[in-house]
Amino acid sequence: MDKPTAQNPVADELPSSASAYLDPQYWDDRFKREEHYEWFKDFSHFRHLILDHINPSYSVLELGCGNSQLCEELYSEGITDITCIDLSPVAVEKMSQRLLSKGYKEIKVLEADMLDLPFGDECFDVVIEKGTMDVLFVDSGDPWNPRSETVNNVMAMLRQVHRVLRPNGIFISITFGQPHFRRPFFNKSEFTWSVEWKTFGDGFHYFFYILKKGERRLEDEECSKKIEMPSISLYHEELDNEDYLFRTNVDELQN
Ligand SMILES: C[S@@+](CC[C@H](N)C(=O)[O-])C[C@H]1O[C@@H](n2cnc3c(N)ncnc32)[C@H](O)[C@@H]1O
Repeated sequence: MDKPTAQNPVADELPSSASAYLDPQYWDDRFKREEHYEWFKDFSHFRHLILDHINPSYSVLELGCGNSQLCEELYSEGITDITCIDLSPVAVEKMSQRLLSKGYKEIKVLEADMLDLPFGDECFDVVIEKGTMDVLFVDSGDPWNPRSETVNNVMAMLRQVHRVLRPNGIFISITFGQPHFRRPFFNKSEFTWSVEWKTFGDGFHYFFYILKKGERRLEDEECSKKIEMPSISLYHEELDNEDYLFRTNVDELQN
């Protein structure tokens, strides 16, 4: 994650409560003042993972692009059919201007809600999100038994992602959300995707989930029926239980 700088003055301005991240006005206000902030990690940290699953002929939808440089990095790898969406009109306007000024004319940027995507069925090869689904989990209450509003929103998002993916499409989710909290959603029986993940990052581990539509396996069925106990450090547990991460600069936690 970027450190605060003169160009990035709001990186250490945290909202008073995590629930602010659910307020579209918070993002508009923030993006008015902030030029670039890379949630979790930048492309260089997971490039090796992403390029295993995307090739230049693919159409890619990025959910909640904010002011991240992920789409530019993908473009630099030859992936040019990219659509970015964000709920924040400020983010969309600033991202459009930035991409135009840098000559990335083919990347499309739209104001849209990932809970109600304005696209037809089966029109993207890859849907990718970095830190955007995590917004839905702030203020979720007990992470083992999230509030019904959280569950409804996460399921609405996943249904939209599943719907717009082509039959063999891939959903990539980059998050601090651990498998024992994400798999109960990813593995719901209505989804036809398989669920795998890798980790990246030093000290603090981020998760890189790969969900392949149409490839659901017996083990995906099994884990939708049982709740797994975590086998991850207490440190991670404290972060999730305290709902801490979305109010804190993760890089500071690592030092
Ligand atoms: C934590 S930031 C992540 C930004 C970016 N993906 C990154 O990696 O730096 C979450 C982003 O999701 C956007 N967002 C929140 N709710 C959304 C929704 N329902 N639909 C689309 N975008 C949303 C916010 O405006 C914000 O840009």
